Amino acid sequence: MWSPAPLCALGRRRPGPCPPLQPLTRLLQREYRGQTPREYQGQTPTHLLQREYRGQTPTRLLQREYRGQTPTHLLQREYRGLLGQGWGRTLHLPPRRFVSNKPKSKRNPKTFPVLDGRVPAVYQHAFEENLRNSKAVIKRYSELLERVKKGGGENAILRHTQRNKKLFVRERLRLLLDHEDFLELSPLAGLDMPYGDVPAAGCLTGIGRICGVWCVFIASDATVKGGTIYPIGVKKQLRAQEIAMENRLLSVHIVDSGGAFLPLQSELFPDKLHGGRIFYNEAIMSAMGIPQVAVVCGSCVAGGAYVPTMAEESVIIDQIGTLFLAGPPLVKAATGEDVSPEDLGGARLHSQVSGCSDHFAVSEEEAYECIRNVVSTLNFEPVPGEDREPDSPLYSPEELLGLAPLDYSCTLPVKLSSLYNSLQILSRLVDGSRFQEFKAPYGTTLVTGFGHVEGHLVGIVANNGELAHDAALKGSHFVQLCGQRGIPILFLQNTAPQPAGPASISQAEAHSNRLKAQASMMAAVACATVPKITIVIGGCFGSDSYVMCGRSFSPNFLFLWPNARVALVDSQHFPTVPPAGDWTGEELELKQLKAKPVQFSALSRLEEESSAFYSSSRLWDDGIILPQDTRKVIAQCLEIMEQKKFQTVLSHPHPIIRM
Ligand code: COA
Repeated sequence: MWSPAPLCALGRRRPGPCPPLQPLTRLLQREYRGQTPREYQGQTPTHLLQREYRGQTPTRLLQREYRGQTPTHLLQREYRGLLGQGWGRTLHLPPRRFVSNKPKSKRNPKTFPVLDGRVPAVYQHAFEENLRNSKAVIKRYSELLERVKKGGGENAILRHTQRNKKLFVRERLRLLLDHEDFLELSPLAGLDMPYGDVPAAGCLTGIGRICGVWCVFIASDATVKGGTIYPIGVKKQLRAQEIAMENRLLSVHIVDSGGAFLPLQSELFPDKLHGGRIFYNEAIMSAMGIPQVAVVCGSCVAGGAYVPTMAEESVIIDQIGTLFLAGPPLVKAATGEDVSPEDLGGARLHSQVSGCSDHFAVSEEEAYECIRNVVSTLNFEPVPGEDREPDSPLYSPEELLGLAPLDYSCTLPVKLSSLYNSLQILSRLVDGSRFQEFKAPYGTTLVTGFGHVEGHLVGIVANNGELAHDAALKGSHFVQLCGQRGIPILFLQNTAPQPAGPASISQAEAHSNRLKAQASMMAAVACATVPKITIVIGGCFGSDSYVMCGRSFSPNFLFLWPNARVALVDSQHFPTVPPAGDWTGEELELKQLKAKPVQFSALSRLEEESSAFYSSSRLWDDGIILPQDTRKVIAQCLEIMEQKKFQTVLSHPHPIIRM
């Protein structure tokens, strides 16, 4: 009987010489010599073999012998000792493939090349300089955040909580959301406005989870001038609604607002993107199948009264929630009648008589519980929790503080290492520091390629020097690839400040070529229908910033690092001499002398206006994020944007109308 050699011996040399093999036919002939063909019939080699080995094909024999011992098992047993010594890692037995029984995720192969993120010693001083600057700007950022978190100040909070018996807005969010780990949008908006400081623009906006579903929230802070709406507050609410529309996120309004801030009515009321747009959007969103729910947890006067009334479902809280177009003082002035807020537009009146509200809650706690129940009836699906096991980057994200450029020229050494610069940053952002670069040796002032952030596949476009002609062409190509494959794009923007004009004819030609290539990339970026996130990690200057999906190119989210500079021109390229014209000699000197103070004040203004804080307080972005939190914020945004894939609620030709 044939007995198979152990599999582990396959391929090994036999120990000694073996006798020459006798072909079966020859053996058979010897056995049946002298017999007639009839007797011989049915005894061909095949027949004989079949009879002898009936039911015993080599495969069956092997199976019987090695029952439960597949070649993989046998190999594992054979090489167990070697695996322990790490042998399997380097040779033909990658241990993960052998040992793990888990199905492999096709979306997250751990085979992208690993980036070398070490900072070369020669750039250490630039790293240190950046680090010092990052620490200073982060300190300033933390101070401003602390200031904003106090809302309208201690007295206003005392009046709000002690006298008016209401919860502070952050406490309300704590009760409403699944956990406090929400993405707050533009917390610094409203600081240092021409009309004064308006902490958090008088309302908190952001994206958090309720019953696992990502929702946009818009929550008035009544400690800031009675929660009245300033121009910057309108802009902030409109941006939150825009995010809700783009990403099909349901919206929750926590309303405690005295309506328009009357002294600024001309900046709030008449124009298209003024206060009325909030109500317009509510109707449009409802028709789009994006639900909105509201809690009336304070006075909702005039404009403030429309928000909950236009919501699809609303809750009003006994004793503290009121809704009216004109409050008791106006009623007194108009009719001479004394009326209490409760009688004029309290919770009972609106729940039992007017129908402006759908649920009556006896306390704030009950109201937020009720909203959570309402959300669970919206038929909105959370993103299914995938079994993602993302690898952390191999380099500490804390080191991003040393890579966040102080400014473009001062970080020249790091820029010269531009072959590494963006890659150094990427190695601290992507899973396992793995990055599949696209067109690496071409147009090297732009880095393009694919990586994963917390398990989500993204296409990454990162500045790595001045955006030259070939770099812009590469960018167009890559953005189109992402668009075609449906992969979200992450722009890491650090655009170089440009001098005002070319210095020579040949430079002018180069400029024209660049112009054409950049125009192509702008078109590709504008028309890519995939989600886009822009993080300004350094400079956001001039037209290059459009190409890198700046604010006017409508990325779904745009955040700044605190070191970022945002301006059309950099102060270093600010023209310092007035145009010569026909002036010569003394005339020119006189002009220059006169121009100096003007230039000085313009320069210092430019310096101030370029800071990330100036930008964020004016809502030119969705907020400042710390470099070391970037990975987490990107992952949150990617998941938020992914949620719409799981929604089944469709658009309707009309909004839900309160009857
Ligand atoms: N415009 C400008 N400032 C306003 C305002 C408005 N619509 N409503 C309130 N404020 C200011 C108050 O003058 C006060 O300012 P101060 O702190 O500098 O004194 C601050 O907001 C807080 O108001 P106060 O009335 O003390 O607080 P409250 O919690 O008791 O009441 C309101 C808040 C909003 C209910 C109440 O102020 C009110 O009814 N305001 C009028 C609202 C209105 O008529 N809006 C019409 C918009 S078209």
